[in-house]
Amino acid sequence: VFESRGFNERGRRPRDERGGAGGGAGGVRAGLGGRGGRGRVLRALGGELRPIEREELWGLVQQGGTALGTGRSSQFEEEEEGKEKALGRLREAGVGGMVVIGGGGSLSGGLELHERGLPTVGVPATIDNDIPGTELSVGVDTALNTAVTVIDRIKDTATAQRRAMVVEVLGRDSGYLAVMSAIAGGADATMVPEFEAKPQELLDLLNESYEKGKPRFTVVVAEGASPTAGEFCDFVNEAGGGYQADLTTLGHIQSGGTPTAFDRILAARLGAAAVGALADDASGVMVGLSGDEIRRVPLEEVAGEKRKLDPGLYRLAGVLSALPE
Ligand code: F6P
Repeated sequence: VFESRGFNERGRRPRDERGGAGGGAGGVRAGLGGRGGRGRVLRALGGELRPIEREELWGLVQQGGTALGTGRSSQFEEEEEGKEKALGRLREAGVGGMVVIGGGGSLSGGLELHERGLPTVGVPATIDNDIPGTELSVGVDTALNTAVTVIDRIKDTATAQRRAMVVEVLGRDSGYLAVMSAIAGGADATMVPEFEAKPQELLDLLNESYEKGKPRFTVVVAEGASPTAGEFCDFVNEAGGGYQADLTTLGHIQSGGTPTAFDRILAARLGAAAVGALADDASGVMVGLSGDEIRRVPLEEVAGEKRKLDPGLYRLAGVLSALPE
């Protein structure tokens, strides 16, 4: 219901000032839609709220982005007044409960609404997969498939031109997307914020790999890693190993696009479970995936917390990229 784009500033520093991933998300992004359709910006804090007609939902299952036009709101996140205003608008509009869909900032905002007495349930949705209480968030699978498709193509070029390819993927402070796309894309190495990167060791591995006749080398780097993908690329080129290192930054290619079937099904399951929780008067919970089941997790255990990257997956990415004999 709350959004900020074009309403006030987004509450994040521009990417080039963040030195990689940084920046905190904020606010709540969920709400009632507008007939204006895709791209229309709803200004709930300004009072633009109305019921959605059923037919407005037709066809949405195959679309990326948000038909609601919602986004981060620094006014909601940072100002007490903004929160009270939002709550007031919702009450005026007769909203009896909220399903808040989003990442860490959105779910923290959801907890605020719950604590202020508005029945609220969270649905985890972020390509970063850094939300605790769920094995997967909505959007991760689509972003991962996009990254892997691009990595496959980049590897074709790397083979043809005998280059070292450094691919930067999104994920903010989380290395999940990098590790999983390195495993699925058959990359030779990955660098993530959660584990110390060893650029010199990686360079040695790269050189050895080429000496042994491997036709390409691909490194997947999380945007929050240190060194950054760009710095590592420069480091390799400055070392002058006789081959060229190229940087590809995937950026927002990963955050849009047609959702995968897995994401559609996960979103449907979580959405239904969220409405079920509201119907059961179970406010203040997030619905999350645990094995094959959807479980309710207190929003208090989710807000402000980060899901840890499984060290086993990180190790697996390393094991699978061992040098050829
Ligand atoms: O949190 C989702 C995410 O796509 C991150 O992976 C990324 O750092 C960020 O949002 C990008 O958003 P913005 O362009 O606003 O920085």
